[in-house]
Amino acid sequence: MPAVPNLPPLPADTPEGEAALKLLLTRYSVSAKHLREPGPSDEAIWAMAMAALRAPDHEKRIPFRFVVARGEGLERLAALFVDYGRRHGKTAEDLEREREKAMQAPVVIAVIARINPEDEVVPVHEQWTTVGGAIANAVNALHFMGFGAKMVAGARAADPQIVAAHCRAGETLVGWIAAGTMDGPPKARGEIDPGAILAPF
Ligand SMILES: Cc1cc2nc3c(=O)[nH]c(=O)nc-3n(C[C@H](O)[C@H](O)[C@H](O)COP(=O)(O)O)c2cc1C
Repeated sequence: MPAVPNLPPLPADTPEGEAALKLLLTRYSVSAKHLREPGPSDEAIWAMAMAALRAPDHEKRIPFRFVVARGEGLERLAALFVDYGRRHGKTAEDLEREREKAMQAPVVIAVIARINPEDEVVPVHEQWTTVGGAIANAVNALHFMGFGAKMVAGARAADPQIVAAHCRAGETLVGWIAAGTMDGPPKARGEIDPGAILAPF
């Protein structure tokens, strides 16, 4: 576990609570180029999904789902990225990088949002908030199980052909969580002062 700079005493009332808080405060994103086999097992992905389903979710709409790529699934993702590169006039060298981008992490989990703009009870911003909470819980759960992970999106997630390969009608491809075993300890980043986001009312 990387050191947490200036970690104050944690007001947890049990050792388990304190350990959980410490784990939460030591989650850092780890980019795909630093992720190796073994990736999270099917059981670990199941636990990740259970954690995502614990996100605050008004009326339990579950406005998200995951599509998990490993092995041949990563080959299919790589073919989509290479095709994306070809359509954008990339060089042969760039196309190899497109392939690497998809194949670096042993497991890549597409995050797909299912937002219902017609929902009369749960407005769109609340549904999106749940999607964000699900992503946060998912990467935290992976971290708790000892894996590195990073959520990425970018232009590929908005490409109509890549979207069509992942989504059903009305869905949005949010991006992908790359997950695997870290090739070294994650780098702790400069922490942001919680005082900057806390105010009394
Ligand atoms: C929906 C979403 C999409 C993201 N897309 C990218 C991306 O394409 N590239 C990137 O470097 N970071 C992206 N990020 C941010 C990283 O996942 C990560 O949070 C950021 O690098 C900060 O690192 P930290 O999680 O260790 O604080 C995205 C985050 C979210 C929630």
